Amino acid sequence: MEIIIVASPAEVGRVAAAKVATVVAQNPSAVIGLATGSSPQGIYVDLRRRVQAGEITFAHARGFALDEYVGIPLEHPESYASVIARDVVAPLGFEPTRVSVPDGRAVDLESAAKDYDAAIRAAGGIDVQILGIGANGHIGFNEPTSSFASRTRIKTLAPLTRQDNARFFDSIEQVPMHCMTQGLGTILEARQVVLVAHGSAKAQAVAAAIEGPLSSFVPGSALQLHEHATVVLDEEAAADLQLADYYRYTYANKPAWQVEH
Ligand code: F6R
Repeated sequence: MEIIIVASPAEVGRVAAAKVATVVAQNPSAVIGLATGSSPQGIYVDLRRRVQAGEITFAHARGFALDEYVGIPLEHPESYASVIARDVVAPLGFEPTRVSVPDGRAVDLESAAKDYDAAIRAAGGIDVQILGIGANGHIGFNEPTSSFASRTRIKTLAPLTRQDNARFFDSIEQVPMHCMTQGLGTILEARQVVLVAHGSAKAQAVAAAIEGPLSSFVPGSALQLHEHATVVLDEEAAADLQLADYYRYTYANKPAWQVEH
């Protein structure tokens, strides 16, 4: 796992965006796994800058959102379908029909979840998956004790997750109780994963995921099993890492040919 510690949330976004941009520059029809929430916003801002500068285009790329709430209408401004359309598809210039979001409104949710995994496979698999991490260590909405083998499915949001996401709604009661999320097994099949975190609220979860034991209790620790995982952190999110100096040393001495710009 590559751990990159940088000075600010904006720099987190820029460094992580460079990873995604490299994939898209090499393969304009790349399949991108899209996270929502606050953490990846800096990535999308920097990718937009690159699109505007003519460095890359998402016109031929394919996108799969990581998760969706169950129990709110599609047109709700905080449905992840709305968020992805607003924050990712429009600003980056994706072709809307080439971006999928789990169908949290399906009558048969179990079939819809299976179909989602099948659609990812049919698209050739995800080339680069963007991830944030919850304060309880979740990635996607794989809450603690999610199986490392899990596939896209319905989950119950942990009370802490509902509390953390209440900022997007008028009250905690409005935060849905359930979601459909790519499983940890689904996420681990992506060819590359880039996880971003900033702020002290994430420090404990980040340290447990990177340096703690492999445990379904900390779903983010599943990334230790991935052969191409990068974690980009600001100083606050990196504060509890025991080997922070080593990660800085490694990054500072990274061979020039391995550095994305
Ligand atoms: C979002 C997602 C979640 C968030 C996590 C952190 O699609 O799957 O895992 O990445 O809850 O959320 P923020 O970034 O809002 O702190």
